[in-house]
Amino acid sequence: MRFRPLTDDDLATSPPWWEDRSLAADGWRNDETRSAVAVDGEQIVAAGAIWLSRVHDDRFWLEVVVHPERRRQGIGTALARHLATLRSRDLPFMARGYVDDESLRFAEALGARTIQTVPPARADLGARTALRSHAAVQPLAGADRSRVEAAFAELYRWTHEHWSPVRDAFETALLEGLWDELDVDASAVAVDASGRIQALAMTYRDTDPALIVAETVARDEPEGEHLVEGCIRRAMAILAHRGLSVVDFDGHVSDPHFLPALSRLRPSGRWFRLVEIPAS
Ligand SMILES: CC(C)(COP(=O)(O)OP(=O)(O)OC[C@H]1O[C@@H](n2cnc3c(N)ncnc32)[C@H](O)[C@@H]1OP(=O)(O)O)[C@@H](O)C(=O)NCCC(=O)NCCS
Repeated sequence: MRFRPLTDDDLATSPPWWEDRSLAADGWRNDETRSAVAVDGEQIVAAGAIWLSRVHDDRFWLEVVVHPERRRQGIGTALARHLATLRSRDLPFMARGYVDDESLRFAEALGARTIQTVPPARADLGARTALRSHAAVQPLAGADRSRVEAAFAELYRWTHEHWSPVRDAFETALLEGLWDELDVDASAVAVDASGRIQALAMTYRDTDPALIVAETVARDEPEGEHLVEGCIRRAMAILAHRGLSVVDFDGHVSDPHFLPALSRLRPSGRWFRLVEIPAS
């Protein structure tokens, strides 16, 4: 078995077993984005990629897929080791999956440790009455866009700082396309008497069902739980008034104001894990 770079020709003729995977030609963005295939004789038996996100540069995302008839022969492990040699910086790998996914068994065999847990995410919009409303909550549609962007970037920065810190100038990538994806009418902000944005519930319309991200703008925000509840309740009310019945949330167990609000909504779904995998 040998390894070689993954090419555009490989992608054009890719077999069905790698079609839903995150793969692109070697060096697709720069030297932080690498990919390779494992070849046995003339046949491609595995493909994989590693890349640094434009928002975080603490770990390389790892993607590996092995021909279904060639699994459990060490090929996935060998390709991961080859991809480790292609890293532009000495950083570990990162992968994710639902807790019962076989892909996480593979990651664990490579020495994975959990760096973040994502709770079940789907809630009935009718459950919003379990959340307190808050007088400081307003529609996001009326807020100044540059202030919303700054508030969201700060919310994102601190909610990731202890487990996956953002990279320099992450804002550009984070905010790219935001206003196309955001449902401004179904998003909410909490604003104090001086006009400072204290909390956000941002509703994304590019998913089905809609997805809400909510937290305070500063980690230490007095009344943070109540403010986040109020923002989420308003966002959910708008969606409910449109005749929708469920919504998804995107957050982490380490989000101190979001998680208590989510727990009141009695969400359903599968737990999700983000793991770090040693690359050397
Ligand atoms: C996950 C995947 C890449 C593993 O490839 P592989 O070539 O079978 O992996 P290896 O043979 O190197 O397995 C190494 C170890 O991982 C663990 N492992 C791999 N697949 C497993 C599975 N389906 N169930 C439980 N453990 C598994 C085992 O401990 C295995 O060692 P063992 O065979 O001696 O018990 C392959 O199953 C696949 O392509 N799955 C679909 C795509 C995917 O989920 N990719 C993961 C993204 S990182």
